[in-house]
Amino acid sequence: MSTTDRELRVGMVGYAFMGAAHSQAWRTVNRVFDLPARARMSLICGRDAGKVADAADRLGWDAYTTDWRDLIARDDIDVVDVCTPGDSHAEIALAALAAGKHVLCEKPLANTVSEARAMAAAAVTAQAAGVRSMCGFNYRRVPAVAMMRQLVADGRLGVIRHVRATYLQDWIVDPQFPLVWRLQRDKAGSGALGDIGAHIIDLTQYVTGRRITGVSAVTETFVKERPLPAGSSGLAATVDGATADGNGADGHRPATGAVTVDDAAVFVARLDGGVLATYEASRFATGRKNALRVEINGSLGTVAFDLERLNELEFYDATRPAAEQGFSRILVTEGEHPYMSAWWPPGHLIGYEHSFTHQMRDFVEAVATGVDPAPSFVDGLQVQLVLDAVTRSAELGSSWTEVEPALATVAA
Ligand SMILES: NC(=O)c1ccc[n+]([C@@H]2O[C@H](COP(=O)([O-])OP(=O)(O)OC[C@H]3O[C@@H](n4cnc5c(N)ncnc54)[C@H](O)[C@@H]3O)[C@@H](O)[C@H]2O)c1
Repeated sequence: MSTTDRELRVGMVGYAFMGAAHSQAWRTVNRVFDLPARARMSLICGRDAGKVADAADRLGWDAYTTDWRDLIARDDIDVVDVCTPGDSHAEIALAALAAGKHVLCEKPLANTVSEARAMAAAAVTAQAAGVRSMCGFNYRRVPAVAMMRQLVADGRLGVIRHVRATYLQDWIVDPQFPLVWRLQRDKAGSGALGDIGAHIIDLTQYVTGRRITGVSAVTETFVKERPLPAGSSGLAATVDGATADGNGADGHRPATGAVTVDDAAVFVARLDGGVLATYEASRFATGRKNALRVEINGSLGTVAFDLERLNELEFYDATRPAAEQGFSRILVTEGEHPYMSAWWPPGHLIGYEHSFTHQMRDFVEAVATGVDPAPSFVDGLQVQLVLDAVTRSAELGSSWTEVEPALATVAA
């Protein structure tokens, strides 16, 4: 329990999938970690008054509003937490920074490089006035991932040679799954690439401390036309009156629309320091629900992480005597592992939602102590530059496409 009287009054925009995940984290963070400020769940924003009132009650917010501009205009809000689709990230975050609010913005930072660059530039300017910003790549906060980074930073893997990263889902394998916002370029920016590929791009750059410098990519949209949705939230959606054969109850096909994003993206990459990497992001990996896997091979060892076993790391230490070599399974639940001393005794496992609680912990601590949290908006721009390079490479028949360093492009 926090021992401070200082409050950070949070206003959150969006109340569905990430809205619920962030609310859980805001509800929990002060009670698990002793922080220099208490997060207060002051205001939640959504466009439908009835639904957002219900969400405020269910998720634990003091009050609600139906316009994010009201939220930003209020002088009793210190932090703006952006949990909307990518098409509104830039507008909301830029307005919030201009109003002097600290900003936590979900990933990917924006839908385009130019939006992300404007956000990164505004964040750099705001830093001078003590205004902080962070992009929500929550998987950095899984203790096993943070531990993976420590192993690399401590030199336990030696010289890094390979990164192998996949993020696989299957929630749109059914061609009758409706055309939700995630399948529309104007709302989402890109498909599997920006939604889940962005996570493995950030995670591998974070763990290795290296930047992706160039890519060669292929992308595919397997199902090009889908029925329009009646409603959607997170990865779930409904079609008006649809039956199993894809027809409506009256035998007529529901109205359809074009899918304008990739269903899958596969690319090879170089990271600085001579690292070769492969990346795969797909929503068509039948049977794979949320399978994020990363393996890093170095001259002295290998480390591997699988989100479906998120309390564990596989570690191969090539410096051990030949007779003892082999992969060991590290259960990342000891008090000395990142974040874990605040939770349960060793061996008592944590889950997906804890990554968000850890994200809020790091954000609150950074804001309250006056330091810049990571990943910054510049880090978010770095990921956006890779997403853009992958898209351009795929459009040009997989031609090799360089990725600029983000900071140089912000300064330019
Ligand atoms: N970090 C992660 O692991 C993770 C996981 C899922 C989604 N995301 C990201 O979170 C963001 C939201 O995704 P989601 O899955 O929660 O989507 P969602 O469809 O479940 O929820 C979006 C919410 O935004 C609201 N909204 C949309 N436009 C709005 C506006 N102009 N004003 C106010 N509210 C508005 C919707 O009403 C809804 O409440 C996206 O950027 C997505 O990429 C991150």
